Amino acid sequence: MIVPRLGAETRLSVEYRDDTPFGAPMTPQLETNLRSVYRTVLQAVERHGPVDVVRHAPELLQEVRAQEGYLRLLDGRTLRHQVLYPDTDLVRPSALTFAKERAYSELRLEFHPGLLPVLHDVVAALSGDGGGLLECMPPDIKGVYDTVLRELEQRDMLVRVPEREKVDRSVRRQGDATFVGHNTVVVRSDTTQVVIDPWFLPTAGHYPVDYQPMSRREIGPVDAVLITHSHPDHFDLGSLLQFGSHVKVFVPYVERESLLSIDMALRLRQLGFHDVRQMHWWQSERIGDIEITALPFYGEQPTTSEQLCPEVTNVGNVYLCRTARFSCAVLADSGRDRRGDVREVAREAHRRWGPIDVLFAGYRGWSLYPVQYLSSSVRRYLLFVPPDQYDVRQTIMNSTAEAVDTAENWHARYLVPYADGGAPWYWEAGLGPALDTDGRELQESVYFDPFPERCLEELRVRSAPSPDTTVGSPVAPLLLRPGQSVHLRNGMAGVIESARHRWPWDAIFPTRPGQPDPRKASAPIL
Ligand SMILES: [Fe+2]
Repeated sequence: MIVPRLGAETRLSVEYRDDTPFGAPMTPQLETNLRSVYRTVLQAVERHGPVDVVRHAPELLQEVRAQEGYLRLLDGRTLRHQVLYPDTDLVRPSALTFAKERAYSELRLEFHPGLLPVLHDVVAALSGDGGGLLECMPPDIKGVYDTVLRELEQRDMLVRVPEREKVDRSVRRQGDATFVGHNTVVVRSDTTQVVIDPWFLPTAGHYPVDYQPMSRREIGPVDAVLITHSHPDHFDLGSLLQFGSHVKVFVPYVERESLLSIDMALRLRQLGFHDVRQMHWWQSERIGDIEITALPFYGEQPTTSEQLCPEVTNVGNVYLCRTARFSCAVLADSGRDRRGDVREVAREAHRRWGPIDVLFAGYRGWSLYPVQYLSSSVRRYLLFVPPDQYDVRQTIMNSTAEAVDTAENWHARYLVPYADGGAPWYWEAGLGPALDTDGRELQESVYFDPFPERCLEELRVRSAPSPDTTVGSPVAPLLLRPGQSVHLRNGMAGVIESARHRWPWDAIFPTRPGQPDPRKASAPIL
């Protein structure tokens, strides 16, 4: 039997209607309003450049604090409650869009009460995860399904595949974990599969034929989804809708939606997910034969020290995943803040559960002065920086050295640098260091957004006791490209590549004089 599926070139996104006066974390309105509040500083960046603005940031930001636009956010000397905690009833899902961007083709479906969960089931069925929906479709869903199918067909957004391919069982042979790219990791045992921070991007003709983004269908059957935190590259609703409403979703415990954290459980239930569970730090759950543990997510807060309105935080979980033969942890964007340090988390987790095989460590560095938030995706962070920190550099994510420190504290066998793009479909979104189209030129900001090879270099050269001797870390490097998997046997890692996900470039990576090429020490391709 031939069944319809969403084409891999199609991108899904969910729109929200935002009726709050200042803006909410679900919508772009908040960042737009902040552009207006900090207008004079942004103009100064255009006129004088970022270096000059950083130098004069304390005066410039103090001027903003005296202006009417900023004063409207305040209740006395602190940010208004309404600003800190936007009313969730005023921020509702409003539409679902299917887009084939390069073909300028789009289908936009406006939500009305009751339609949302039905649409979710339809999208999941078209992604091969209908949970038996296609075999026994209730009449209300059948009507919507047929309409959506017809509209997608007209826009050339569907493909027809044999039903036996609705889930690709061959993924069972793809090893213990797959790095889909950026933050997305799949962990599997013989019977169970979980995916962390799923974010699926569309395939495109201008990427190499044999190197394309992984799709939902290629991930295969999934028993649970884990979310680390609510930033859009970790909590992407267009990707999450491609999982059936029956799939368990584990999210961090958010007491109340705020400027810095989406209430992920609330938003997922609104979209029709039946089984959403909030996990507290140090809590463990079993999913089939995989044990997952939520660990503290420190870092990626507005400052590494004191913060205005400290009760408002970017809430998150680090996850430890253990199967019968494999264990790994994913750090996402965590690092350190006034409450703790991911290296302490690693020490405590090791004390409780022992060493792990693989640490997926974010390593972006992200050292910047607070005024630089205005040029980032977290402009709102500036509202929480105390004025005496305006000229103090903040490092809110792990540097390469801190990523290696964390792996050593966890006694990890291998370190995989991740959470920073890694392929053209991320580079195009402004994520991570990039290669040019020939795969030869490096476009890297070493002190801000380094290539993963910098982590490997850090592993190999941890100390230099004499001019001609270097000492490396006991942790082994493992460089995974988006689409590659790791297969661990007898303590040794091998890398598995699959069709359409073969890394096509042999980048010319600069090495220090006398140092080995970091690419040569990674695990063999199986
Ligand atoms: Fe983040």
